[in-house]
Amino acid sequence: MPQKEKFYLTTPIYYTNGLPHIGHTYTTVVADVIRRYKRMRGYDVVMTTGTDEHGVNVERAAKKAGIPESEYVAKMADAWRALWDELGIPADEFVRTTDLKHVRTVQWLFKLCKENGYVYKGHYTGQYCIYDNAFVNDTKPGDNCPDCGRPLETITEENFFFKLSSFQKPLLDFYKKNPDFIQPDTRRNEIISFVEGGLKDLSITRTTIRWGIPVPGEEPHVFYVWFDALTAYLSAVGGPDFEKRGMWPADLHLVGKDIIRFHTVYWPAFLMAAMLPVPKQVWAHGWFLMDAAKMSKSKGNVVLPRPIVNMLGMDALRYFLLRDVVFGQDGNFSYDALVTRYNSDLANGLGNLASRTAALIEKNFAGKIPKPAAFKPQDEVLGKEAQNAIGEVLENFDKLSFARALETIWTVIAAADKYLTSEQPWALGNSEADQSRKATVLWTTAELLRIVVALLFPVLPDSAAKVWTLLGQSDALGKFELDGLRWGQLAPGASLGKAQTLFPRVDKTEAIERIESMANEELNPTPATPAPAASAPAVSGTAAAAAAAPAVSDKIGIEDFTKVEMRVGQIKTAERIVGADKLLKLTVDIGTEIRQICAGIAQYYEPESLIGRKVAVVVNLAPRKLRGVESNGMIVAASVGPEGRPVLTGFHEEVEVGARLK
Ligand code: MSP
Repeated sequence: MPQKEKFYLTTPIYYTNGLPHIGHTYTTVVADVIRRYKRMRGYDVVMTTGTDEHGVNVERAAKKAGIPESEYVAKMADAWRALWDELGIPADEFVRTTDLKHVRTVQWLFKLCKENGYVYKGHYTGQYCIYDNAFVNDTKPGDNCPDCGRPLETITEENFFFKLSSFQKPLLDFYKKNPDFIQPDTRRNEIISFVEGGLKDLSITRTTIRWGIPVPGEEPHVFYVWFDALTAYLSAVGGPDFEKRGMWPADLHLVGKDIIRFHTVYWPAFLMAAMLPVPKQVWAHGWFLMDAAKMSKSKGNVVLPRPIVNMLGMDALRYFLLRDVVFGQDGNFSYDALVTRYNSDLANGLGNLASRTAALIEKNFAGKIPKPAAFKPQDEVLGKEAQNAIGEVLENFDKLSFARALETIWTVIAAADKYLTSEQPWALGNSEADQSRKATVLWTTAELLRIVVALLFPVLPDSAAKVWTLLGQSDALGKFELDGLRWGQLAPGASLGKAQTLFPRVDKTEAIERIESMANEELNPTPATPAPAASAPAVSGTAAAAAAAPAVSDKIGIEDFTKVEMRVGQIKTAERIVGADKLLKLTVDIGTEIRQICAGIAQYYEPESLIGRKVAVVVNLAPRKLRGVESNGMIVAASVGPEGRPVLTGFHEEVEVGARLK
């Protein structure tokens, strides 16, 4: 058997001072799609992800948590790994920068660079962003970080320097010789002009940080975060013994656009200095934005993967991430677009075609793939369309043009829908001619579906495999070789598998409310309320919803109660929120300020009837977003009857706005 060609790809290794949001999920999902795709094209694939665990941020976070750094990062790494497992995208190699094999690789790489004359000791004074772990050029003392906006610190220290300046020409020559090294082309041009502008030597160690990999014999020097982090790609596949494993150099590093410079300038320069093979390609994707800004927990605009997966399934999230944004560009994340696509493309498109076809075969051919009779031109046209799609889709997957590939597949699905509607196999009778025609039409549709799901497997592994089994295919779809995929291979006589609902249609408003409510709970867990399951009622902005949750058994002490700050508020304005029929957007005077609060009372209160009304407000609740609208506080209401109708609180005497409820 000929040896398989290898393909090694990586995601960035993620910082451990936060948990994964949709931006991180995006990179890992894309890596998983490529991994599955390459395996179906006959490659021996290894995909690496991991955690970047050193630096001052970790020191601080561990201190805040009151635990040693090692314990803190172990917990965080477990959480990252567990989430990838839960989402069905575990890496083949999960590398932690605190792993011994990684520590050894970093020290070895440094030794090689030093022996080859590319490392020297010097002093460095600069403005340093402790949040981004980087010195920031072109800034002066007192400036804020241009990336994150937080204050910079002036730092002078003895460092080891890497002679990056020696690599200007080698890098430019390398980019020229390997025009596909940096993708997409716009990024390539940016990097080339950056390198043409001149490269300064780079400080690669610190003495001000404790939590890092020690430079052997040079303590207290520890490695600077990028020399440490980038090397993880190599430690994951053998480190100093990389030749034995046979995976290095990486074929593809997937990164976000913010870290492209580190991957396309520093990383190849470190490797060149050590005389090691340089990766083949770095692909920078754009960001998923929320309200036109990059997501961050401090801005309160992060989108979490788990609530979406609980509500719509992992395949729906994967599909949306790849279909809605052109790979390489930024895209705005919106729950509205997510659910709309789910209903139109997955529930009504693929899901409907699969269940319709299976039901017709079940009914007319006792659940066995029928044998086609003579083909008519319209059958052949459809067959050609599916056959042509194979080449087009593979070509687009090769270029990482996922949105294009999916668009092509959905054109074929739409053509099949139209074909069924015009051929109307359900309207044909039981004569021999009609039976033959029915057989031909249903075989044609089933064959198209087989091709569609074979192509879709890298993106929709669960649902594609379900349809594959539904069509009576017994081999594992993930092992199917796409190079052998052709129109006409569907063997008649195979028994259909068990019918399953693939993508049940959802009510958009309700689905979004549930996702947001689960996300709020995950971001601001209330110890008293258990995390809502997928089937929990939609809750939003009122205490009525919380009251509808199961009773709390443990009593709390007064000190817990006093943590909740409730005040009398007066509603100033009230309006409905477009697309959210349960929510009202209120502005409420709480004595010291006017707050915007969303409340899930729109089905029970007319906005106008609320103006001037005095209500109890929880004022020290962390702000949350409901349907994209900021809600800063919670209106207290009783929850009445089985459906939990909210009834607002009131006062029987005149009370001052802002008075505290005790
Ligand atoms: N630890 C470094 C990477 C070291 S790689 C040797 C790091 N970590 S990170 O956790 O901050 O970011 C990891 C990746 O997530 C980056 O590629 C970044 O671009 C990506 N994303 C973070 N937020 C994102 C979005 N909102 N959208 C898409 N990707 C984004 O940087």
